[in-house]
Amino acid sequence: MIESKGWNWEIVKDEREEFWKKPSMESYYLLNRWKSQDKKSFLDLGCGLGRHSVLFGKNGFDVSCFDISQDAINRTKQWAESENLYFDYKVGDMLELPYNNEQFDCILCRNVISHTDTEGMKQIVKQLDKVMKHGGECYLTLGSKDTWGFKHEDWPLVDENTRLRMEEGPEYKVPHFYADYNLVKELFSNFNIINVHQEIEYFAKENKVTESYHYHVLIQKA
Ligand SMILES: C[S@@+](CC[C@H](N)C(=O)[O-])C[C@H]1O[C@@H](n2cnc3c(N)ncnc32)[C@H](O)[C@@H]1O
Repeated sequence: MIESKGWNWEIVKDEREEFWKKPSMESYYLLNRWKSQDKKSFLDLGCGLGRHSVLFGKNGFDVSCFDISQDAINRTKQWAESENLYFDYKVGDMLELPYNNEQFDCILCRNVISHTDTEGMKQIVKQLDKVMKHGGECYLTLGSKDTWGFKHEDWPLVDENTRLRMEEGPEYKVPHFYADYNLVKELFSNFNIINVHQEIEYFAKENKVTESYHYHVLIQKA
């Protein structure tokens, strides 16, 4: 299995920092959904700068923040405490989640669990199963094989589904696992799959538009 490597958040400042502090669109839907289901314990798995921890904390959830990057955890804590929000914080690797069995009602891991290889991905799915309550839900995103990163043949292939990202920046040499629809169904076959859709994001950089494809998956532990 490939060694885990987190983001280098130290170089994320100004405009990029602002981007990573705005909650994603679907997080508002999940907030509504999970509130109406009386869910309370929320794990922000791979919390980054804490945009979803703060959103859910402000709305009454008991928030646990987890990331492999100490800097990510420090910055989440600093932001949350400036808003008088007090969470549980842990630095660690998602391959071994340091939580009790069936601890969480709901988990959000947006653009996180793809940061491994195929063997790692199977282990993370088992870890999710371990820490979710029965009836608990998890929303996650996975890089799609349709995306430019997987088609980037100059980037080292780690296994049939995984490449190392070689672009300078916070994700330099971070492994990326890419799925297709059949692989999504196979990976989460022990769960109820409530919804899967593929999202396309467009990024314009130096007069060039890049398309980035991700699967968004909502699962429930039976
Ligand atoms: C793209 S960022 C997303 C952050 C956050 N989920 C958000 O939506 O703002 C990916 C995060 O996953 C973390 N990460 C990567 N590999 C990890 C691992 N093996 N265990 C825990 N966190 C990891 C990175 O450090 C980074 O903070």
